[in-house]
Amino acid sequence: MRYNAQVVDAPREYWQTEAQAEHYERNRFGDPWSRAYRFVEERTIRRALRALARSGRILDTACGTGRITALLVDEGFAEVVGSDVSTAMMAVAKRHLPQIEFFQADATRLPFDENSFDAVMCIGLLMHLDAATRVAALRELARISRRHVVVQYGCVGAFQRLQSRVTGRPAGSVRYPVVDAEIHQDLERSGLQERARFWVLRPVTGSVILSLAKERRRVARPSARRSLPRDLAALAASGPR
Ligand SMILES: C[S@@+](CC[C@H](N)C(=O)[O-])C[C@H]1O[C@@H](n2cnc3c(N)ncnc32)[C@H](O)[C@@H]1O
Repeated sequence: MRYNAQVVDAPREYWQTEAQAEHYERNRFGDPWSRAYRFVEERTIRRALRALARSGRILDTACGTGRITALLVDEGFAEVVGSDVSTAMMAVAKRHLPQIEFFQADATRLPFDENSFDAVMCIGLLMHLDAATRVAALRELARISRRHVVVQYGCVGAFQRLQSRVTGRPAGSVRYPVVDAEIHQDLERSGLQERARFWVLRPVTGSVILSLAKERRRVARPSARRSLPRDLAALAASGPR
């Protein structure tokens, strides 16, 4: 069975063994279709990254074997860090990228301080998570990022639903495909705002890269009247002459 024809039921456990990590590394993008998909997906991710300053510190969560971590290094980000729940996957990543620091961490409980990265990425995870876990992860990404969050969703439309009916495979070939309204709900619950959306091979796949930003907290501004120097305020209070 082709890798992406199956649905992962327990994503925290699925990639934990050395055998599974080596299998992912060798076979995930092994066949011609997957290689073509990877090419387009990575080109799309690079487009989504154009708006981000290269001088910053960026985290690749759910980094797996380091595919996107390597892309971030290649894009020239000043400091790139990786994290994943699976040490087996990160052992492969470390083999390719010995200069990079990797941390074992669940995306819903990240061991980093608030605002400790300029941007945070999460590719290839959200489509494996139910709504509550997705929101828990998105909140963590928002918490540790100063501003930017870039994530991937499996967002299905009429084409994927029809495809699913014909092939008998789950829509988008993922465990938790979403519709647009669910994305909006997730973002609202996580304090994130969509800035731009980049589709990967639409409508053949439901894969979409979202460039997000943290909602800025509204700071109560002193009223214009109160901010005036005292003598000018007195002048204003006396009304027109
Ligand atoms: C499909 S792989 C994607 C890897 C990489 N981002 C890529 O695109 O090649 C999914 C990764 O998510 C990790 N993962 C699953 N559940 C996780 C969680 N709760 N927190 C952090 N990582 C998780 C897995 O260990 C695996 O490495």
